Amino acid sequence: MCGIIGYIGNKAAEPILIKGLKKMEYRGYDSAGLCLANNGKLLTIKRKGEVNELEKAIKNEKIKESKYNIGIAHTRWATHGSPSKINAHPHLDSENKIAIVHNGIIENYDSLKEILKKDKVKLRSETDSEIIAHLISKFYKGNLKEAVKKTVKLIEGSYGLAVIDKQANKIIATRNSSPLVIGVGKNETFVASDPLALMSETKKIIYLKDKQLAEINGKDFVIEDYIGNEVDFEIIELKLEAAQIEKGNYKHFMLKEIFDQPQSLRNLLAGRLKDEEIKLSLNLKNKKWRRIILCACGTSWHSCLIGKHFIEKYTNIPVEVDYASEFRYRNPVVGKNDLFIAVSQSGETADTLAALREANLKGADSLGIVNVVGSTISREVNSGVYLHAGPEIGVASTKAFSSQVLAFLLLSLYLQQEKGEKLDKKTIKEIKRLPQLVEEVLKTNQQIKKIAKKFNSINNFLYLGRGINFPVALEGALKLKEISYIHAEGYPAAEIKHGPIALIDKDLPSLFLATKDELLEKIISNMQEIKARGGKIITIANEKRKELIELSDYVVYVPKTTTELAGIVNSIPLQLLAYHTADLKNLNVDRPRNLAKSVTVE
Ligand code: M6R
Repeated sequence: MCGIIGYIGNKAAEPILIKGLKKMEYRGYDSAGLCLANNGKLLTIKRKGEVNELEKAIKNEKIKESKYNIGIAHTRWATHGSPSKINAHPHLDSENKIAIVHNGIIENYDSLKEILKKDKVKLRSETDSEIIAHLISKFYKGNLKEAVKKTVKLIEGSYGLAVIDKQANKIIATRNSSPLVIGVGKNETFVASDPLALMSETKKIIYLKDKQLAEINGKDFVIEDYIGNEVDFEIIELKLEAAQIEKGNYKHFMLKEIFDQPQSLRNLLAGRLKDEEIKLSLNLKNKKWRRIILCACGTSWHSCLIGKHFIEKYTNIPVEVDYASEFRYRNPVVGKNDLFIAVSQSGETADTLAALREANLKGADSLGIVNVVGSTISREVNSGVYLHAGPEIGVASTKAFSSQVLAFLLLSLYLQQEKGEKLDKKTIKEIKRLPQLVEEVLKTNQQIKKIAKKFNSINNFLYLGRGINFPVALEGALKLKEISYIHAEGYPAAEIKHGPIALIDKDLPSLFLATKDELLEKIISNMQEIKARGGKIITIANEKRKELIELSDYVVYVPKTTTELAGIVNSIPLQLLAYHTADLKNLNVDRPRNLAKSVTVE
C-alpha cells in the first residue's frame, strides 16, 4: 500500500528518498514521486510504474543534489483515480508553494471539494489527496503548521501526511489511523510510513499517535496535539538488521520466507517454552471470559480458524472467528466478559485496527498476535504476543502464518496452564520438535516444483480438508490465487457433494489434505467421490496407505506429527506449490498485481 518518506537534514535529500522508496516497494504500489524544496522553489517529479522509472526521470533532470536538503516522496497504491503520473503524489496547491504526500482515504472528499470549488480551485488529479494541498494553501498565512492543523480538523477519514512548503525549512507530519514514524538522526530527521524505509539511515524511531503532529526542522523537532500542547514521546531503538530485508541467494523474498520458517518458529518459541511450562507475560484483565473473539483479515483470519480449534480444546471457552471488516460495521455484541484477539502480521491493517478499537471501546479485554514490533495494533491492545518472525516482505504471507498458528497453540496451552491443569507432554514435545519437522517438510521443494510444472496451465483448483486441515485448505487456495492468478477455492471436503462436485472433471484438480487424524477415513471417502468423477488428485499425506496411493495422481509425504501441528506442517507444501506455480508462469511473485502488503485502507 502507499508509502511515505520525508527527509530534512544536512545531506542531499534525493538519494535518501529514493532509497527509502525502494525499501517500501514490497508494500505494493503503482506510481511514485518526490518533491524537493530549496529556498523559494519546489521541484516535483512523478512517474507511473516503478521507482526505477522515477529514478531515471530524476537523472534526466540533472538535479544538483547538494541544493536540496529537504524533500518528501511517495509510492502510491491507487484508491481514488487510476494509476498515472498525474495521480501520483506529491500533490501541490495551485500556486505550487505547498506539497503533500498522503496515505489513507478522505471520506468527506466530496464536501471538501465543494469548499474548494467556491474558491475556484482547479483540481489537477482524480485523487482525494490533492484537496489536502489546496486546503492547506487556503489556510496558509505564513505558518505551515497552523494551516495543516486547520486542514486536518476538516478531514474525516484516515491519513498519514507529510507536508513541505517552498520556504524549505521544515516538514509537518501528522497521522490518523494510518501509520507514521519519525526517524531521529544526527542533524537530520526523517518521516516514514514504514520504519523499514529508514533502516539504513537510523534505527531510532518515534511512533506518532493518532492526531499528533510533528514539526521537524532537521536539527530539532516538536510533537504536539492539535490544540498545541507538546506531548511526551518515546524513542525506540529498532532491533532489525539490514540482512533481514535482503533476499540473499533466494530468487524471491517469498521463497526465502518459506525457508525462514524453521528459524522464525524457533524465534517465537525462544523463552516461551521452558521445560514443560509455557511462559507468556500477558497483562489480561481477567481470565474468566464468557467468550473469545478472534478477528483478522486474509491469511491472519485463516490462522484464527485454526486458533479456534486450539482454544476451544484447551480452555473450553467458546470462540467466534470474525472477519474484521464485518465485525466493525455490525455493531457487535461485545463487552467486558469477552476477550478480543486481533491477529495481524503488519499490525496496521485498517479493518483489524478498527475492529479492535470497537472492542476496546465496548470494554472487552484485548490481546494482539502481531509480527511488526511497535505497530499500531500492538500498541492498542491490552496485552500481546509478538511473533518475532522477522520482516515479511513478500506480499503473500508465509512465515507469519505458521508463527500465528504456533502462537495460538502456545496461548491456548498457557490459558490451560493458568487454570491449574497439567499440559499434555506429547504436545509439548512435538512443539519443541516443530522447527525440525518444518526443515524436513521443506525437502519436498523439488518434488513440488515438478508437480507445479504439471498444473501451471490449469485455470481452477480445489483445496480440500477437514478439521484443522480445512483452514489449511483455505490458506493454500488463497496463496495460489494471489500470486499465480489461478482461481482456487478452499472447501471443507465433506461439503463438496453439496454443490461444488458438479464442477469436477479432468480439468479441475483437487488437492487433498489427508494426513493421519480422526477424520482420515472420511477424507478417503471424499477422495473416492472425486476420483469417480474423473478429477485429478494431489494428496498431502504422512503415511503410505494403499488407498491414498491408488486414489492420488501425486502424493507429497510430509513428516508425521500431532493433529495440531499438522496445521503448520501441511501448509508448507501448499506455500511451495503456489510459489513454484507463479514462478513458472514468470509472474511477479513478491509483488502480485493489485495487491498490497499492508492494507491500511478499509
Ligand atoms: O498484516 P495482516 O496480517 O493484518 O494482513 C492481513 C491480510 O491483508 C494478509 O494476510 C493478506 O491476506 C496476505 N496477502 C495473504 O497472503
